[in-house]
Amino acid sequence: MTDFALFDQAIARDQRIEPADEMPERYRSTMIRQIAQHAHSEIIGMQPEGEWITRAPTLRRKAILLAKVQDEAGHGLYLYSAAETLGADRGDLTQRLIEGRQKYSSIFNYPTLSFADVGVIGWLVDGAAICNQVPLCRSSYGPYARAMIRICKEESFHQRQGYELLLTMMSGTAAQRDMVQDAVDRWWWPSLMMFGPPDADSPNTAQSMAWKIKRHTNDELRQRFVDMSVPQAAELGVTLPDPELAWNASRDHYDFGQPDWDELRRVISGGGAMNEQRIARRRQADTDGAWVREAAAAHAAKNLEVAR
Ligand code: 3HC
Repeated sequence: MTDFALFDQAIARDQRIEPADEMPERYRSTMIRQIAQHAHSEIIGMQPEGEWITRAPTLRRKAILLAKVQDEAGHGLYLYSAAETLGADRGDLTQRLIEGRQKYSSIFNYPTLSFADVGVIGWLVDGAAICNQVPLCRSSYGPYARAMIRICKEESFHQRQGYELLLTMMSGTAAQRDMVQDAVDRWWWPSLMMFGPPDADSPNTAQSMAWKIKRHTNDELRQRFVDMSVPQAAELGVTLPDPELAWNASRDHYDFGQPDWDELRRVISGGGAMNEQRIARRRQADTDGAWVREAAAAHAAKNLEVAR
């Protein structure tokens, strides 16, 4: 039997892999890669909507947006903690992000031009995140799957508050309705890209499916997201910017056009419109927070000294 016979058996039996279990080095590094990217996405994802907290139109909207952005920070911290169970160091992961050696979700490379973007991010971006993250609650790596359970519960609040914001704007003035449609036009295709490249161009999906890290492929989850979003768009009264969108009764799914995969490649290799600003802000926050980390480490060391 191979060195990882117990690992193979656990995967075959749909059992969780836990931190102390033997695992192939490639499984470990794949989990660190995916969890780190996910954590980075949550932390960077605070920026686009954070820009609208001081400009929210009502106290209620401000309170909701504050709660949501705070949730994203918490999601990032859970996920960095999950990565640490695999031996990763959170400071090292942050440096890899800042130096462009690790990625964050392409979706956060787009600007938030109006308050309607806050609603569309909630509806489409958090909706896509839910499609992607609910299956991850059954991911083979225990700490990651368990982190997903609370994250998914909070994401459903994020998605609902966004959709409710848009329903309010769509029952407002013509200018508000135009703002919503403009935001949908700008965020629809980037939301489809959140699920990754087509399966045929995905170097990681096959192995991640074999190890039950992923439970569905990129294309399967993208299709699920489109099928979920089309009726919601109709209910809202907005048009999705895809002339190829049509119900296909023989497939029992919506047919839809293909995103610009060259754009995804460009964005995830650092060419996104907002990448420079997002990373500069993350670098500044890391610098500004150094004294807090040093003080916490000194306090922990002192306590350890006293405990001895
Ligand atoms: N953005 C950035 N990078 C992407 C990407 C995207 N939308 N889609 C693919 N990539 C990268 C992959 O990371 C991989 O690069 P790497 O090997 O250097 O890491 C490469 O492109 C090839 O893609 P694959 O499909 O082969 O890679 P994966 O198997 O890792 O699949 C994924 C990509 C579907 C994003 C997967 O990593 C995943 O499911 N991650 C967990 C969920 C996640 O990260 N969601 C991001 C959004 S978080 C969020 O939405 C916050 C919420 O509050 C809004």
